[in-house]
Amino acid sequence: KTAKQKPGLTLLIAAPRGFCAGVDRAIEIVERALQKYGAPVYVRHEIVHNKYVVDQLREKGAVFVEELDEVPDDAPVVFSAHGVPKDVPAEARRREMIYVDATCPLVSKVHRQAERQIEAKRHIIFIGHEGHPEVIGTMGQVAEGQMTLVETVADVAKLPFAADVDLAFLTQTTLSVDDTDEIISALRARYPDIVGPKADDICYATSNRQAAVKQIAPASDLVLVIGSPNSSNSLRLVELAERCGTDAKLILRAADLDPAWFEGVGTVGLTAGASAPEELVREVVDQLAEWRDVHEETLFSAVENMVFKLPRQLLD
Ligand code: F3S
Repeated sequence: KTAKQKPGLTLLIAAPRGFCAGVDRAIEIVERALQKYGAPVYVRHEIVHNKYVVDQLREKGAVFVEELDEVPDDAPVVFSAHGVPKDVPAEARRREMIYVDATCPLVSKVHRQAERQIEAKRHIIFIGHEGHPEVIGTMGQVAEGQMTLVETVADVAKLPFAADVDLAFLTQTTLSVDDTDEIISALRARYPDIVGPKADDICYATSNRQAAVKQIAPASDLVLVIGSPNSSNSLRLVELAERCGTDAKLILRAADLDPAWFEGVGTVGLTAGASAPEELVREVVDQLAEWRDVHEETLFSAVENMVFKLPRQLLD
């Protein structure tokens, strides 16, 4: 008996997708810390926002906690890629702990800019999503009251500052490129002398992944984004696909796929947020191939070759 022929499905796979250099580095930091110091190595916050990655590191001996006071004085601790407020390493030093900072260098760059703007006596307007660990970390680089968070164009209109106040702006690294453009335009319109980065502080990985989705979404009936619900850059990819007029779903991995989504669907776009490993992309492709006769096409919109150095303390 011959098996019933499966209906075809074109899969447009976005490139670049998945791991960025900051996530690669953060995971390697935990792995090397485990080798150097032995388990357990504590990690403050999810090292990157992906459950699969966290579970794998947990199996190797990493212990994930939310706050430093959950870590014993004599255990090594790693700070996550999102960055931490200044008082966290200060507290670790006070307790004479061994700590390794896995903050992405592109986030650290924003931290240094924040310090510089305060030195130059400017008040900082920070564009970001309230409650995200990167935002908490960056706002925690300066004293309370020196930085004001805005999330939307409407927030800009509500800012209490007079036109002659010295202001600077900075941004979260994983925002929507388009929304951020609008917010910065609103800031510049209200405060023509505001000082800021050339464009914004959105990182190369975030903007490349968004550009890649803009390429695949209009040609797809459905876009799948592999990522976690707490991953800012993954959420932005879902939002962007929807703005292109295409349905989009955020999934953690293949187990989340619902066969009903693919009824009458001929072309599916597939991408992954910066914290989602390529194994999960393959897992999704394999699952789809069980249901359909999948024809894979990868659409490249940029080539990435960014690599960040590891902290010196892990190199010896
Ligand atoms: Fe860094 Fe951007 Fe990745 S800030 S951690 S390179 S998403």
